[in-house]
Amino acid sequence: MLSTLLFESKGVIGIDIGTSSVKILEIQESKKNFYLKNFGIAKVPRETVVNGMVINADPVIEAIREIILRRNIKTKNVVLSISGHPVIVKKISLPVMSDEQLEESIPFEVQQYIPFALEEVNLDFQILGPSEDKRDQMSVMLVAAKKVMINEYLNLISTAGLNTVVVDIDVFALENMFEFNYPTELDKNVALIDIGASVININVLQGGISAFTRDVFIGGHQITEDIQRQMNVTYDQAESLKLGKEAEGVSQETVKSLVQKSSLSIIGEIQRSLDFFSSQTSHEVNKIYLGGGVMKTPQLIDLIQERTGIPAEGVDPLKSIRYDKGDFDADYIKEMSPFMAVGVGLALRRAGDK
Ligand SMILES: Nc1ncnc2c1ncn2[C@@H]1O[C@H](COP(=O)(O)OP(=O)(O)OP(=O)(O)O)[C@@H](O)[C@H]1O
Ligand SMILES: [Mg+2]
Repeated sequence: MLSTLLFESKGVIGIDIGTSSVKILEIQESKKNFYLKNFGIAKVPRETVVNGMVINADPVIEAIREIILRRNIKTKNVVLSISGHPVIVKKISLPVMSDEQLEESIPFEVQQYIPFALEEVNLDFQILGPSEDKRDQMSVMLVAAKKVMINEYLNLISTAGLNTVVVDIDVFALENMFEFNYPTELDKNVALIDIGASVININVLQGGISAFTRDVFIGGHQITEDIQRQMNVTYDQAESLKLGKEAEGVSQETVKSLVQKSSLSIIGEIQRSLDFFSSQTSHEVNKIYLGGGVMKTPQLIDLIQERTGIPAEGVDPLKSIRYDKGDFDADYIKEMSPFMAVGVGLALRRAGDK
């Protein structure tokens, strides 16, 4: 986690500000069980958030307010996450030293890895353990995020009348969601992959520790834009064709084949990242868990399995989280669960936890 601004807080809500929609989740612990107390999603127009930077805060604030009103959410403390170009997440090797020593020397050690001036960024790190291949070295997960970017998010949340307590990173939120829900899978090498409208967040866990992370800037928008271009329709028409709506004079088969074609370029990006992980670590990924709206594309999971040769399935962000059947319809939850992967990881954070 990048920064903990408040040390004490009771409940938090997780706000996942995506490029196509904002999702808010609240999870409550009661008698050792975890319950989904609130979930809401609201669309935001395109070009509101671009590559992780908020270009236009107003629609995002409006979306947050709308969900809060709709679900009557009372909790004010927010955990949010960021990703994109202004965020650097990197696993590096450093000489073995204590947490305190590292705290002091980190600005000098990491300068070479960060393409921004040090005074422009917030730095955080976590010692992961001894380096696999180098003696007297340890692996450190380094996170640097541009202060201007973080400030934009903090301003946005406070304008919405809320209070940011933790700024997290998308790939780590996914990891948190997975560790909570799939404790018995942590002995494998698993790739957590969230395919959103504009970004694919990838985090490969090795023995329960993040071994490789990457954000790739391609997603569902690309598929829609390909349909728009090829079929000469508006973006909104293309989006609705992509989601299976029928339209006069449009062949479903043509749409399907366009979807499949652009899905293949998304899968190509995933494959490249997993190959990179394997070449760096000489380990194979044993299993792929998918989240994000694009995961709902028909045949995508099969195609991913076929192309990568790795078993893949949709992740269930609520696997170990209950909900009140009177509060949420089971079919709705099933339908929406791909959109909750990052948000569950955020909602499970307690301010002050590491
Ligand atoms: N049933 C479906 N079939 C195919 N694609 C879908 C389906 N439902 C949603 N999508 C696509 O999923 C994307 C939205 O997913 P998601 O909400 O995870 O993205 P986001 O969080 O807004 O974006 P990002 O994380 O990239 O910033 C859109 O591109 C949308 O078209
Ligand atoms: Mg997203």
